[in-house]
Amino acid sequence: MPRPRLREPKSNPNMNCSCPVIIILAGLLWSAAAPAQDIFAGRGVYENHCASCHGPDGRATMPSTPHFIDGMGLYASDSDLIRVIRFGKNLMPGYDRALKESEILNVISYVRTLRR
Ligand code: HEC
Repeated sequence: MPRPRLREPKSNPNMNCSCPVIIILAGLLWSAAAPAQDIFAGRGVYENHCASCHGPDGRATMPSTPHFIDGMGLYASDSDLIRVIRFGKNLMPGYDRALKESEILNVISYVRTLRR
């Protein structure tokens, strides 16, 4: 007569660690709470460095300056805009020394909100 097989120990559901799920959820919450680009910080950069020509609301106050309110100058990719902001273009000064890369990314996010 065969011996009764030992039953596999049933895994205790309480021992099933849901830690990975919790860690992933926490990570998602964290990334939502701290976006890579901070539009509000970008607004401060804009008001300090850019509004004098581009206008507080994106209506440019200087000749030959694009009106962000009409979306002018904003069709370019972020990498093109980073280049213009760092090194300047014609009458637009470069901000390579004045602004950190994070500030440039923040101000790009902000100017993209000025289009109406
Ligand atoms: C002294 C005036 C002046 C200031 C200050 C200024 N800009 Fe400009 N900006 C210009 C002019 C003029 C142009 C148009 C350049 C061209 O195409 O000839 C321009 C163009 C741009 C463009 C469009 C680039 C493109 O390729 O069409 C962006 C984006 C931009 N500026 C962002 C900024 C940001 C961000 C700041 C602040 C960090 C800033 N500008 C500060 C004058 C200025």
